[in-house]
Amino acid sequence: MSRSDDAQAKEIEGDAHPAAPPKANGAVSYIILFFIIGFALSVAFGWGLFPRLLYSQKNQPVDFNHKLHVALVDDGCQSCHFFRPDGTFAGSPRMAQCIDCHSEMQGQSENEAIFFEQYVLKGHEVPWRVYARQPDCVFFSHSAHVYGAKLDCVTCHGRTGDSERLRPYEENLISGYSRDIWGHNIAGFKQNTWDRMKMDDCAECHARHDTLHDSSVQTGRDACFVCHK
Ligand code: HEC
Ligand code: HEC
Ligand code: HEC
Ligand code: HEC
Ligand code: HEC
Repeated sequence: MSRSDDAQAKEIEGDAHPAAPPKANGAVSYIILFFIIGFALSVAFGWGLFPRLLYSQKNQPVDFNHKLHVALVDDGCQSCHFFRPDGTFAGSPRMAQCIDCHSEMQGQSENEAIFFEQYVLKGHEVPWRVYARQPDCVFFSHSAHVYGAKLDCVTCHGRTGDSERLRPYEENLISGYSRDIWGHNIAGFKQNTWDRMKMDDCAECHARHDTLHDSSVQTGRDACFVCHK
């Protein structure tokens, strides 16, 4: 019997003992099972529960129907969201944009009754919550984007202008940011231009626009002072 024969015999002998491997397989499948359960739990927490704990939802003080109103006013979006003579953007409307029609009730809806009794009659402005609100350190100009860059409102805000209701405002409990800044997809996926408006989203569009490279303003991410005053 040569040495290699001996080794071969040992190998065969080893194969002939099937008792050990199943035990190891059992342990492995338990590990896999626990891994899958653990993974499922963390996915459920990360995608389901965590965002709910991270964001508090607040309804707007009054619901507002864009579709209805855009059909009623003469000047489209500009009737309420206009540029002042000095080029600054008026932003959310004030009572002055409503009172011509709403000095009296226009219909019977409960929504209008809230608006009329709580705000019109008391002479209070409606404290609208701004979904797109950026932190104070960020400088943003509508006229540069709407007139300079000729961008549509939808590019940054989505379809709010066609909507029949205002969605709840969601505030990040850690940063205080509106949810529209970091986006609604917890994994950070972005399908539409308006899904997210973080620093990199502003910078990404700036990098894409050739006009910026021609202009004297450096709006790339490097020039911090462009967006931070
Ligand atoms: C009759 C007045 C009126 C008209 C006309 C109007 N809006 Fe509004 N809009 C409002 C009010 C009220 C709000 C709620 C305040 C807010 O969220 O800033 C609002 C909010 C918005 C917001 C949300 C801003 C934010 O981040 O909170 C967007 C975007 C918007 N309007 C776009 C449009 C567009 C686009 C049009 C034209 C298609 C339009 N609006 C026409 C009254 C008007
Ligand atoms: C051109 C006239 C006009 C202007 C300007 C206008 N409204 Fe209205 N509004 C109406 C009419 C008409 C209705 C419909 C009432 C009905 O049929 O129930 C209405 C309905 C409403 C309602 C209840 C319906 C709903 O579902 O939201 C609210 C709330 C409201 N308006 C708020 C506002 C606010 C806030 C502004 C100013 C930013 C404003 N409106 C500006 C004419 C106007
Ligand atoms: C390039 C992206 C961009 C475009 C295009 C754009 N917006 Fe905005 N909008 C923003 C950002 C960012 C803010 C928040 C600004 C801040 O917090 O200083 C904002 C804020 C607003 C607000 C709330 C402002 C306030 O302070 O009360 C309204 C209303 C609004 N936008 C309407 C519009 C309308 C209507 C158009 C189209 C005419 C438009 N936006 C186009 C990015 C954009
Ligand atoms: C979809 C494209 C787009 C997005 C998104 C965008 N920008 Fe811009 N931005 C532009 C373009 C294009 C210009 C150059 C406008 C011009 O040619 O006058 C510009 C110009 C600017 C300027 C220079 C204004 C001036 O006075 O010259 C500032 C500041 C600015 N953007 C800030 C921001 C901030 C902050 C954000 C994100 C909250 C943002 N932008 C998102 C396209 C975009
Ligand atoms: C194109 C516009 C733009 C440019 C350029 C830019 N930022 Fe920002 N930055 C933003 C916006 C919008 C935010 C708020 C959203 C966020 O946190 O992503 C922000 C947030 C920040 C914050 C967090 C502030 C807070 O209160 O949470 C810091 C720090 C910051 N930027 C530093 C810088 C520095 C440093 C540079 C230069 C290398 C720079 N930024 C260039 C748009 C810009």
